[in-house]
Amino acid sequence: MDYAATGQEALSRIAGACDLETLEGLRVEFLGKQGSISGLLKTLGKLSPEERKEEGPKIHGLRESVSEALAARKDALESAALEARLAAETIDLSLPAPEAPRGSVHPISQVMDELAEIFADMGFAVATGPEIEDDWHNFTALNMPETHPARAMHDTFYFPDKDDEGRDMLLRTHTSPVQIRAMIAKGAPIRIIAPGRVYRSDSDATHTPMFHQVEGLVIDKGIHLGHLKWTLETFLKAYFERDDIVLRLRPSYFPFTEPSVEVDVGYSQENGRRVVGGSGDAPGHAWMEVLGSGMVNRRVIAAAGLDPDEWQGFAFGTGVDRLAMLKYGMDDLRAFFDGDVRWLSHYGFSALDVPTLAGGVGTPA
Ligand code: PHE
Repeated sequence: MDYAATGQEALSRIAGACDLETLEGLRVEFLGKQGSISGLLKTLGKLSPEERKEEGPKIHGLRESVSEALAARKDALESAALEARLAAETIDLSLPAPEAPRGSVHPISQVMDELAEIFADMGFAVATGPEIEDDWHNFTALNMPETHPARAMHDTFYFPDKDDEGRDMLLRTHTSPVQIRAMIAKGAPIRIIAPGRVYRSDSDATHTPMFHQVEGLVIDKGIHLGHLKWTLETFLKAYFERDDIVLRLRPSYFPFTEPSVEVDVGYSQENGRRVVGGSGDAPGHAWMEVLGSGMVNRRVIAAAGLDPDEWQGFAFGTGVDRLAMLKYGMDDLRAFFDGDVRWLSHYGFSALDVPTLAGGVGTPA
């Protein structure tokens, strides 16, 4: 049989196909299951061995050249389509840019970036958890069982419904549940900070129903209060960018730490503003509480599935909004959440002013 004519005709029809749909139609016509060339291939089975030797290579050659032609035509049609699209989709690069850059980085975002930078230098990763929590993570696992009086102090926003496991759902009242989630997810050793939003039903000049905390957690072997004090001192010196930060640790109580310490820093009043630095006992100075902290309670370590005889650690928590106010001198917390562009253009930061330890975490390089 003369396959040359069949081939010629197929190739010229392929070359003439002017869109991908027509081309696909041809592929089915020649090479599809019921296709003409596929049909020829099927006839090989019925031939004698000699005839097959003669016909086989010809039919296979035919199929080969047709499928090559199909692929080449497909390529050509696709790149023509791309060219056409590129020609049609023009962008007008002559549009004027805004006169001045608009928008700024909110002081809270800025401070969270500063914290991440400072703690990254000490080997801490940033962890997150959900703002909609269940009461096991927010309270029970943190050694606050249902009847614990500390629960009442949190002014919790509860949801009307329980979750699938029958747990009460709430807006997290602190970032401490991230301690539990991080230990369960990552095991030990662990070094994380967890910045984020928290919620309490409380509102005045120094309290907003939503505010920000940053949690810190270190779990390892042989961790003691000295590690906690060094870490907090190093953090506060880097954050306030002063070497004369003096800490005072006071015994306190949190259900999830034992022992618990509240951390004060010395400050003085300058031009009606609190300026952190120096001992709170020095003349003209006083102490101000900035952090809650302590050694992680054994019961919390056990609740998160770790062996408290093997692993110890410390945790701390503090308000990001307050840290921002202290460093950058705002006096009303509520302005943080007003979205007033005048306030933002005054207190906001340039998007290009990325905090680095080398360039200064809070001041333009
Ligand atoms: N979660 C505590 C609070 O919201 C702060 C804290 C965190 C205290 C970690 C000790 C350890 O007040």
